[in-house]
Amino acid sequence: MKGIILAGGSGTRLYPTTLAVSKQLMPVYDKPTIYYPLSVLMLSGITDILIISTPADLPQFRRLLGDGSELGLTFSYAGQERPNGLAEAFLIGADHIGGDSVALVLGDNLFHGPGLSPLLQKNARDVDGCVLFGYQVSDPERYGVGEVDDRGCLVSIEEKPTAPRSNRAITGLYFYSNDVVDIAKNIRPSERGELEITDVNLTYLAEGRARLVELRRGFTWLDTGTPEALLTASQFVGILESRQRVRIACLEEIALRMGYIDAEACHRLGERLGKSDYGRYVMEVAETWRPPSAVAAPSR
Ligand code: G1P
Repeated sequence: MKGIILAGGSGTRLYPTTLAVSKQLMPVYDKPTIYYPLSVLMLSGITDILIISTPADLPQFRRLLGDGSELGLTFSYAGQERPNGLAEAFLIGADHIGGDSVALVLGDNLFHGPGLSPLLQKNARDVDGCVLFGYQVSDPERYGVGEVDDRGCLVSIEEKPTAPRSNRAITGLYFYSNDVVDIAKNIRPSERGELEITDVNLTYLAEGRARLVELRRGFTWLDTGTPEALLTASQFVGILESRQRVRIACLEEIALRMGYIDAEACHRLGERLGKSDYGRYVMEVAETWRPPSAVAAPSR
């Protein structure tokens, strides 16, 4: 499965902060926002990732993330000239997707929870149609909203409805089979002139090929579209990280745990980050790392 991170848009709800800097490069507590969705793709087992942003912002993303090789990954980059909608990602990324299935994640979405990695990996396998991830929210009208029947099957999806039929938001992580490229080519722009991801998902729904995976209590899903949301996300990450001295979305740690890099390479990446607490954490992780096979089986 290939990955795409959509980190475009002009972040108007964060003006003036985002007049000169992309929203997805703003910090959520101790790291750039894009680290969070990137970590989600890595945890899904995806290593070949296309980053889409505005032509003006792409150089900064390249400067931050490079070609991915240091993390054992492959990054490529493409520009989205205008905010023509999320589904345009599949047209821009058609060559990148090739004959594979694809995961799209929005560049400002943060996911955290127990067992997230196995859940993602399980659902990334053998996708036929689309896999959406639902999350209960208090303000569904801000999102795509999914309605499920008694058996938990998805029966409707509406984009930012004024009268939501449920409180289940469709989060910004989507797994698709390869035909998503053709579907995206055939949908028409909405009234706002955009290729809507919801219209892609509705096509799969009509074919009975849309699945919804529930992210239940205990999971956290946040976005960073407004100053309040950005602050909430930073506070959430800050509290968890300082209380437990673990890190959420630490790319170097995930690359090590997923087997994309070894401990020596991980340590070097930490050293490069110098005196920051993040850098020290990466070095500590590398120093205390034992590959799973080297861990002694528990005695009975
Ligand atoms: C987009 C999607 C929406 C989804 C949301 C998740 O909205 O259109 O369906 O629920 O992302 O973050 P946007 O944030 O672009 O307004």
